[in-house]
Amino acid sequence: MWQATCFEKNFRLYAQRVNLKSFFELTSNIFRLLPSHDRYRLLALSLINLFLSVLDLIGVAALGVLTSVAVQGSRSQDPGNRTAAVLRALGLDGLEFAQQILFLATLSMIVFILKIGLSAFILRRTVQFLAYRAVNAGLTAMEKILTSTWSIRGKMSSQELAYAVNTATNYGVIGVLGGLAKLSADLVLIVVMIVSLLFVDFATAAITVLVFGLVSLVLNKRMRKRARSLGEEYFKHTISLNQVTLGTFLSAREIWVRSTADYFLGLVKTQRVHLARIDSEQIFLGMINKYVFEITLIVLSFFVCFIQLSAESPARAAATITIFLASIFRIGPAALSFQQTLVQLQTYFAKIKLSISFIGSLPSKAFFDSTPENLTSDKFEACIELKDVDFTYTEDANFNLRNINLRVEPGEFVAIVGPSGSGKSTLMDIMLGLITPLRGTSLISNLDSKVCIKKHPGKIGFVPQEASIIEGTVRENILLGLQSHSVETLVSTLKMVEIHEFIETLPKGLDEFLGEGGQGLSGGQKQRLSLARALVTDPQIVFLDEATNSLDAETEAAISESLGSLKHRKTLVVIAHRLSTIVNADKIIFMDKGKIESIGQFEELKKLSPKFAAFAALQSL
Ligand SMILES: Nc1ncnc2c1ncn2[C@@H]1O[C@H](COP(=O)(O)OP(=O)(O)O)[C@@H](O)[C@H]1O
Ligand SMILES: [Mg+2]
Repeated sequence: MWQATCFEKNFRLYAQRVNLKSFFELTSNIFRLLPSHDRYRLLALSLINLFLSVLDLIGVAALGVLTSVAVQGSRSQDPGNRTAAVLRALGLDGLEFAQQILFLATLSMIVFILKIGLSAFILRRTVQFLAYRAVNAGLTAMEKILTSTWSIRGKMSSQELAYAVNTATNYGVIGVLGGLAKLSADLVLIVVMIVSLLFVDFATAAITVLVFGLVSLVLNKRMRKRARSLGEEYFKHTISLNQVTLGTFLSAREIWVRSTADYFLGLVKTQRVHLARIDSEQIFLGMINKYVFEITLIVLSFFVCFIQLSAESPARAAATITIFLASIFRIGPAALSFQQTLVQLQTYFAKIKLSISFIGSLPSKAFFDSTPENLTSDKFEACIELKDVDFTYTEDANFNLRNINLRVEPGEFVAIVGPSGSGKSTLMDIMLGLITPLRGTSLISNLDSKVCIKKHPGKIGFVPQEASIIEGTVRENILLGLQSHSVETLVSTLKMVEIHEFIETLPKGLDEFLGEGGQGLSGGQKQRLSLARALVTDPQIVFLDEATNSLDAETEAAISESLGSLKHRKTLVVIAHRLSTIVNADKIIFMDKGKIESIGQFEELKKLSPKFAAFAALQSL
């Protein structure tokens, strides 16, 4: 149990071989979460970083000339000497020996310090830039998810969605994009240094490339798979840990009564132990690179010194060795960081692949802007229409809605009834545009439901089967993001749903803070807040999905009466469990096993459909 649901569901997608193509896909998906001007800024920052490598080159070259001058002494002034030519080019040939040394030493020192300082500055700007862009990327992802239909969003658990918008976008922008920028800067530095080394001594440069290249290749080959599987496991166990922890707290009362806390602690422990192993392995994986590189550096330096000193003149050997050591002193850390970043990228890649490709697969928000012209009308008409609608949750599911046709006229009171699991909520979700039908259309006010809801906010009210209370005040819960409101509207709505008296007993009234899930409220009170939330915008169509279920008979009767007063002033679509609340409906839709079994007024329907008659008889109606 308690496994990351999507991970299991999409394992085949996940287990695909990670190749360059999928890496490009992922990177472009992350890029697409950034506005285009930010992409250019990131590119500019990376380019500046690349150019800074030139400073390293100057520093190392100055050191090379310095050693050459120092070792050769006055001979460096001789005509035809290579060093003399360089000194002349630098305009240093007129200076004395000590001045030349001082100048070259100071130059290399200043250049190195300048490079390090500028690098630090650019790094700070890049990190800062990426961190804030990650915020935007997360919000863009969240917006995409919120504007997608339930049929897409519903594929992921809420833990997976939270991971996708908060963790994966962070890892994607900071980890992957930042890693790529770092990788390219390191690579350019390495290439520049190697090329300069090539000019000084071909053999030394070749050996350096060969040794570092081989070490990197071997390390990469050995670590790539491990890094990826650690990333995948991290993703899976992080989500599972969150699911199991949250699930345990949500069922805390039942767990208490059953006294099975130990079992759930065991589940949490299993996930934590996995994550502990992953963490420690990840840290060690990074270290291995460091150890291997340090050893490589020591051995390589030894060999280069040995070969140079035994094969070349002392002066030339000293100059080459200095340049070699100076470059290796720059190449070494860059090569190590390159290698470490490469491993990190593999891990990040595995950590975010599924989430980012999910976000990438969501239709862009542009959907609403690209709606055909002929569908736009400004006047809101409180009618609903389903035309030839087919829907099924999964291909192999035995539940499906087939060929549903239905029209609800403005001001009509329509009830949907039927046994549990017959598809009532699904039908309502389709009307609301939460689910896109596989075939056919769902219209409100003669517009595609999704478009209509976007175009006419507040014209539609919806009360779901289970009231969801957010962490916030009573007022915030009712307004749910609405900005403008009057206290009078709030109070009259609260009176209509029979909860005003209760709110007045709260110490802070409308500003009383309600905890997560509305702890401290009864089921009925939550339901009434949910009703108030739906009615506060004075909607013209109200959808109620078994909204009065958890109310006591007396309150239900009172609310039904209030809702009854809305009859013919608003269009009402009501899924009802208790038939007594809908006997007066203009139209009752009786559903059975995904089909509209029959439609009619209460008494008429009882005569028309023996199934409905039997259903009504169960409630003594
Ligand atoms: N998200 C979902 N994924 C797969 N099947 C679902 C989902 N939601 C509901 N179902 C199935 O669809 C059928 C109809 O569900 P629903 O519309 O909620 O029924 P009702 O509201 O009439 O009780 C049920 O068999 C249910 O198991
Ligand atoms: Mg239902």
